Amino acid sequence: MSRSVLLLIGGGIAAYKSLLLARELKKRGVSVTGVLTRGGAEFITPLSVAGLTGNQCFTDLFDLKDEAEMGHIELSRAADLVVAAPATANLLGKAANGLADDLASTVLMATDKRVLFAPAMNVRMWEHPATRRNVSRLREDGALFVGPDEGEMACGEYGPGRMAEPEAIADAVEDALSGDGALSGRHVLVTAGPTHEPLDPVRYVANRSSGKQGYAIARACRALGARVTLVSGPVSLPSPRGVEVVRVETARDMLAACEAALPADVFVACAAVADYRPAVETTHKVKKERGGLTAIDLTENPDILAIIAQHETQRPQLVIGFAAETDDVIGHAEAKRARKQCDWIVANDVSPGTGIMGGDRNAVTIINGNGEEAWEDMPKSDVSSRLARKIAEALPPRP
Ligand code: CTP
Repeated sequence: MSRSVLLLIGGGIAAYKSLLLARELKKRGVSVTGVLTRGGAEFITPLSVAGLTGNQCFTDLFDLKDEAEMGHIELSRAADLVVAAPATANLLGKAANGLADDLASTVLMATDKRVLFAPAMNVRMWEHPATRRNVSRLREDGALFVGPDEGEMACGEYGPGRMAEPEAIADAVEDALSGDGALSGRHVLVTAGPTHEPLDPVRYVANRSSGKQGYAIARACRALGARVTLVSGPVSLPSPRGVEVVRVETARDMLAACEAALPADVFVACAAVADYRPAVETTHKVKKERGGLTAIDLTENPDILAIIAQHETQRPQLVIGFAAETDDVIGHAEAKRARKQCDWIVANDVSPGTGIMGGDRNAVTIINGNGEEAWEDMPKSDVSSRLARKIAEALPPRP
């Protein structure tokens, strides 16, 4: 699902930071169209906004050429979210009082989408009772705010009034965009990464899984508005924003964390769970001089996917497994789907030459019992977004 923002850039020294914001949003897959107020255009040019967003920058309500190409009503409704950054005291005042005397303020009046303000102004203006009134009135109207930050300001004064940093605004944009997505109201449980199965206090049996695919799926489901619980084996990846991450080590811990997270609407088993663990885990380090290690007795781990897929009371509506194979990929994957009783299995070829295990790209085939759907090779983040959309489409409508 495409995510788009209409960025209203007011007249303040922080306008230059809006260029960085536009770049940050684009990097996160959000499309941006800029509207530059007359004041904003004193600080940055429409050309730099258009250059960074890759879209035409609109500047004036009464520019007939702009109006003919896209009317202000259409402009205000085409985006999923309207962001005003920097939102000056003047822009907040107009928005709070329903004034519409230029393109930015008209868009704010005409939009049927949520509005996120990133205020930026002198500390005395921010603290002025009129601004306080305007902000609380806008909040009552359902507007969202990010910042301002406290610090030294361009005018030399110190206090709240500095526009929030572009990353923080981009985070707030993502949160706002995920609020009413195709998966909002759903709970998605995802496993990711390897498991570590201890042999003694310093050694363990593990595998090469990086967790990248599972983390990307958690992020993509969150981006569509789901509440996401990510049960992760040991990996060196940061927690995705807005996702509840439960970090575990062993397969048995992972199963316990998954069961504790139920009920869920969807279960995506992306972890490379160790099938076996050392039968005996010593509490002291195995020493060479005591005979050392020549063989490890193994015992089977619980199959988390099979247990959740066959759960008597809390089976999620949609259970998705992964099948990492090196030969007869589709045959093995389909057999696995039937054996574990999951609804879909995402099959991929992880032969050494493919670079999939630990890499950033993946080529998968989705098998669902009625057939198979092969997706071309693409970044793991794209596989995840497409899978998240497919999940949203497959779920029955919410009651
Ligand atoms: N899986 C699981 N718990 C396990 C083993 C696997 O939840 N103990 C899940 C994986 O997360 C994946 C699917 O089952 O979604 C298939 O994992 P895979 O290791 O390919 O299957 P195995 O059952 O281990 O079969 P084999 O090793 O024989 O290929």
